Amino acid sequence: MLPSQFLLLSVQLMLWFVVLSVDQVEVDSGAESVQLPCKTTVHLPEDIKVVWEDRKGKVHVYQNGSDQPGEQYRYYRGRTEMKINLLEPGDLSLTLKYPTDWDSNTYTCTVYKSEEDILMKKQVELKVKDYQVEVEEGEESVQLPFRTTPDLPEDTTVMWVCSDRTVHLYWNRSDQPEEQHRDYKNRTEMKKDLLKTGDLSLTLKHPKETDTGRYRCRVFNKDVWREKTVELKVKGQYEDTEQRSVCLSVIGCSSLIGCLS
Ligand SMILES: *[C@@H]1O[C@H](CO)[C@@H](O)[C@H](O)[C@H]1NC(C)=O
Ligand SMILES: *[C@@H]1O[C@H](CO)[C@@H](O)[C@H](O)[C@H]1NC(C)=O
Ligand SMILES: *[C@@H]1O[C@H](CO)[C@@H](O)[C@H](O)[C@H]1NC(C)=O
Repeated sequence: MLPSQFLLLSVQLMLWFVVLSVDQVEVDSGAESVQLPCKTTVHLPEDIKVVWEDRKGKVHVYQNGSDQPGEQYRYYRGRTEMKINLLEPGDLSLTLKYPTDWDSNTYTCTVYKSEEDILMKKQVELKVKDYQVEVEEGEESVQLPFRTTPDLPEDTTVMWVCSDRTVHLYWNRSDQPEEQHRDYKNRTEMKKDLLKTGDLSLTLKHPKETDTGRYRCRVFNKDVWREKTVELKVKGQYEDTEQRSVCLSVIGCSSLIGCLS
């Protein structure tokens, strides 16, 4: 390659970098909140519209001088906050409460002067780290933590699943033990007043090596939707042979039949 070609290429690469440069934010699953930065160095006019979106839809909308919660989709309902102070140079950063691995995403902040007139566009890439819990077989119990916003609607369903098994179901304002997989019978417990406190953590008693797996908590009613994954690893009391650990990491909580024999 000629030096001039090389120079041209590096200038092109530099330009690409400037254009595509996005803020990266990383946070632990379990943090109370995370801030997605979006700032301008100039004062903004009063009648701006600000739209935060991910690739599925609107995360937060600010228009006519106030938040427009009706426009955001239910996954983010009740979890976002924008502190707008137009007297300062614009800080349009978004606070996202109780982030989980399901929030890992690219977010776009767009500032409109009018429908067609975009003043600014900015991207933020959020990575929420997976939550991992490790425990030894023989312990009394293990907790799979999940905290979200308090005062969830009364008709919210909370469901912990692992692969295709129902680990615990809370529905119609009470636990539904007859719905859970027999392997988890009498072994799970959720907090009292879980919808009021937003503490949806699951206690699993007498964890066994075969409980190892990816546990998902789904929370929903017609207006709300939340999800979180917790990876549980239960270490056996016996020495791990290679085959056993391969089996467990592949199959986890779904079924071990034919794997350990
Ligand atoms: C904003 O205000 C304008 C004019 O006052 C009105 O026509 C429009 O419907 C309002 N939009 C929202 C989302 O409130
Ligand atoms: C919900 O629970 C109440 C009692 O707590 C019961 O009367 C009602 O039938 C339940 N609803 C359904 C759809 O099962
Ligand atoms: C769960 O507990 C109930 C009541 O204590 C008992 O009758 C039932 O056999 C237990 N089920 C299992 C699978 O241990």
